[in-house]
Amino acid sequence: MRGPPGGCCCPPTLTLCSGRCARGTGLLLTLLAVLLLLLSAQRSLWPQLSRTPVHHRATTTAAPEWVTQAARPSPVPSMPPNLGDTYGQDETYSSSGCPSSIRKRIGATEFGATFLPTIPVLQWAQHAREDEYQRLRRYGGAHGWKDISWDEREERVSLVPPAVLKSSLSLLNASSSALLFDIRPLAARCTRCAVVGNGGILRGSGMGPTIDAHDYVFRVNGAITEGFEHDVGSRTSFYVFSTNTMVNALHSYAADGFRHPPQTPETCYVFLPDHDRDYLLLRAALSQQPVDSGQDEGVHPQQFFGEDLQAGKFRMLHPDFIRYLRNRFLRSHILATPHWQLYRPSTGAVMLLTAIHTCDQVSAFGFMTPGYRAYSDHYFDRGHKEVHFFINHDLMMEMQLWQRLQRSGILWLYTGSEGTT
Ligand SMILES: *[C@@H]1O[C@H](CO)[C@@H](O)[C@H](O)[C@H]1NC(C)=O
Repeated sequence: MRGPPGGCCCPPTLTLCSGRCARGTGLLLTLLAVLLLLLSAQRSLWPQLSRTPVHHRATTTAAPEWVTQAARPSPVPSMPPNLGDTYGQDETYSSSGCPSSIRKRIGATEFGATFLPTIPVLQWAQHAREDEYQRLRRYGGAHGWKDISWDEREERVSLVPPAVLKSSLSLLNASSSALLFDIRPLAARCTRCAVVGNGGILRGSGMGPTIDAHDYVFRVNGAITEGFEHDVGSRTSFYVFSTNTMVNALHSYAADGFRHPPQTPETCYVFLPDHDRDYLLLRAALSQQPVDSGQDEGVHPQQFFGEDLQAGKFRMLHPDFIRYLRNRFLRSHILATPHWQLYRPSTGAVMLLTAIHTCDQVSAFGFMTPGYRAYSDHYFDRGHKEVHFFINHDLMMEMQLWQRLQRSGILWLYTGSEGTT
C-alpha cells in the first residue's frame, strides 16, 4: 500500500478508519503537550518558515496555537450578533509535529486574525450535551442545531422534527470519532493532503498519480473516479458530503456513471450536517437500520456507504466550524440580503477548508480558477457545460479565496495551463 515513509505507528491506509492506532494517541498528545510547552518557552527553536515578515506578531504570544479565542480580534469588527462569531474550543489539531505545518505558518499571513486555532472541526458523542444544545440551538441550517430536536420529551411537545440529535451523535463514539485522521505529533513528518474538487480543469490533466501519492485524498459530492483515474486518481480517504448534496449528485450524475460514493476500505464518510437529514442518515448507518423518518425514510445506508458501517468509518463536521467558515473565510455579500439564511459555503469549499484546518500541507485540484470559462462544469461531463451558480453559495468569493490562500503559501492550487496567477 501507499504508506508514507518515516516512522508512523502504522500506515494511514490501515489506521484511517479502524481507529486501531487511536489508543496510543492520548499518550502521544500528552507527550506533545509537554514538548510544546518546552518549545514555546524557547521560541527561537521554532523554525521561521513563512515567506512574509512576522513583525506584527512579535508582540503577541510565543505559541500562536495557544492564543485564546477571546483575545483574537474579529476580522470584521462589526459582525452582527445573529451571525454568532463565538465558538466552542477544541485543541485537537494544534499538535502537529510538522515544522512547516499550515498552522505554524498561517499566523504570519493575511489570515492571521481570521484563523482560530481551537475552532472545533468535528462533533461526536462528547458534544451530545444539553449545554451544547442550548448554545447551538440559536443557529439554523448547517450553522447550528436550531432545526433538530434534542430528545423525546421535546418531540412530544413540538411534534416536528423527530428527536434525533442526542440519539444520533451519541452513536459517534469510536476512539477515532474525534479525529479526522491519526496525528503523529512526535514524528516530524508532515501530513500531505490532496483535496479534489470536481472542476472541468482536471479533464486531461494527468494529475491522477500525483493526487494518489498524497497521504490522504479528499473528494466531494459526485466524485467519479472510475474511467478518470489518470486525471483524478483512484483513492478516496475522505468523502465529504451533506445528504442533500449527495442525493442530488446521485440523481444528476447517474448518466455520467455516479452510482454511489467511493466505497474503498480506506474511505471515511464526513458529514456536513445541514438540518436534520444528516443526523437521521448517520443514526441509520450506525444502527444498521433503514432511515426511519424524514424525506429519506426507508433508504438503506448501505446503498451509499457499502456494508462496513462501523462507527470508525464516519465523521461529522461541527456546526461551529461551518458557521466560522461562513463568518470569517466566506462572509459573502449574500448575508446582507433577504436570502442570508439560505447561504452557506459550498460543500467543496467546506472540504478544502477542513483540510486546511487539519492537514500540514494541502494541494487543491479541480477547484475553480479565474480561467473557469474555458472548462466544463465537471471533469466527468460528456459535453461542455457552463459552471452553475446558485443563490445559496458564492462561488466567485470562493474562487478569490483560493487565489489568496495560494498567494499566502497556505495551499498549492492546480491551475492547469493558466500558470500561477
Ligand atoms: C458506543 O455506543 C454504543 C451504543 O450506545 C455502544 O453499544 C458501544 O459500546 C459504544 N462504544 C464505545 C466505544 O463506547
